[in-house]
Amino acid sequence: MTKTSLVEAVLKEACALSDACWAARVSYSLNGWSLLESHRLTKKREACLRDFLADKANSAWLGGALSGGRSRSRACDLDPDCRKVFIFPSYAGENWLFVVSAAENLSKASQQVWRLAAMAIPSGDDAADQTHQLKQAVTEMEEIQQELRARIAAQREAESRLVQAAKLAAVGEMAAGIAHELNNPLTSVVGFTELSIESLSIESPLRHDLELVLREANRARSVVRRLLDFARQREVVRTRGDINEIVDEVVVLTKHLLLTSGVELRMKLKPGLPWVLIDRNQIKQVLLNLVNNALYAMPNGGMMAIETWEQERHGAPFVALAVRDSGEGISPQNLERIFEPFFTTRGDQGGTGLGLSVTYGIVTEHGGVIEVESQVNSGSSFLVYFPLQEQEV
Ligand SMILES: Nc1ncnc2c1ncn2[C@@H]1O[C@H](COP(=O)(O)OP(=O)(O)OP(=O)(O)O)[C@@H](O)[C@H]1O
Ligand SMILES: [Mg+2]
Repeated sequence: MTKTSLVEAVLKEACALSDACWAARVSYSLNGWSLLESHRLTKKREACLRDFLADKANSAWLGGALSGGRSRSRACDLDPDCRKVFIFPSYAGENWLFVVSAAENLSKASQQVWRLAAMAIPSGDDAADQTHQLKQAVTEMEEIQQELRARIAAQREAESRLVQAAKLAAVGEMAAGIAHELNNPLTSVVGFTELSIESLSIESPLRHDLELVLREANRARSVVRRLLDFARQREVVRTRGDINEIVDEVVVLTKHLLLTSGVELRMKLKPGLPWVLIDRNQIKQVLLNLVNNALYAMPNGGMMAIETWEQERHGAPFVALAVRDSGEGISPQNLERIFEPFFTTRGDQGGTGLGLSVTYGIVTEHGGVIEVESQVNSGSSFLVYFPLQEQEV
């Protein structure tokens, strides 16, 4: 018979011989009190007992009984049916006690039964107990290891976000300076070119060249505008808004592009989404960037899906927005860099590499999170989560 089954048998017999409701053996170690064997301990009672053991004042009371080697009793709200608790320390002076719960006072005879019961428990652990304890220790260590791993992963993620934020801040400052310098001369170039074109006759051979100048100057201006956006120099206006409404507006804007590029659009917008505190223009820009990227990734057509839904993340409510495409996908090496300012694989097609860094900046300024899943040749998903709870801005 193992020690555990012996103790269980003793608990059962002593309960039957005394007026106890239930009883348990608890032991003390560096980690505090823990429950060993028990009799008639329902799940609910067990939870109450564990709370009782975790309480500092109770722990001191139990400890006093151990060091004094004397039984004690007190009124207790551990169990509504059994309002009195008795403790009987180990006869052999070991670090354990019987906790016995009774409706009223235990009679003298009953108390005697429990003292005898304490004498019946042999001291020391038997091999089965040791194995059990070892197994428990191993499980605990595995749990701790798992938790550690999760914490390290979370820490790494936080670090990489910090690095990203620092990069963005540095480039943002530089970009703001350059953009300011370029904005004024470009406005003059565009203005004067327009005036010159107007003053030329329709047949003038210069017309074509000047139109080219105008087009390129406008392109440069749009890059400058994106740089300014990136440096977040514009006034931010946040109001409560419906993400679905913004999706609809952006889809209208890009419908012709979708049609001409042979891309099928699937929309799965969750009706009645709660409103989020957003700058509508910025969120439109986020969506436009993601949609444009998806379209670029499908030069020969394909499928694009835009979805919205509600989701909890780490216990907090979020509204989620996904843009998925069936395009070329992103290689693992590139995946690490896509949010970096000026990282582009579309330089030849006029890509500036700012789309996703602007997007990242906007989303994080909204207290949100952006995530990517991608597989080469099968497509990419960009997931954006906006917090529903107020964020400090
Ligand atoms: N949906 C996508 N599918 C495949 N690759 C993508 C996708 N979205 C982004 N990328 C990759 O990430 C890079 C960076 O994207 P980002 O939007 O920042 O810049 P860009 O699209 O190249 O230029 P810009 O947006 O300034 O016109 C792209 O060049 C491309 O390699
Ligand atoms: Mg882009």
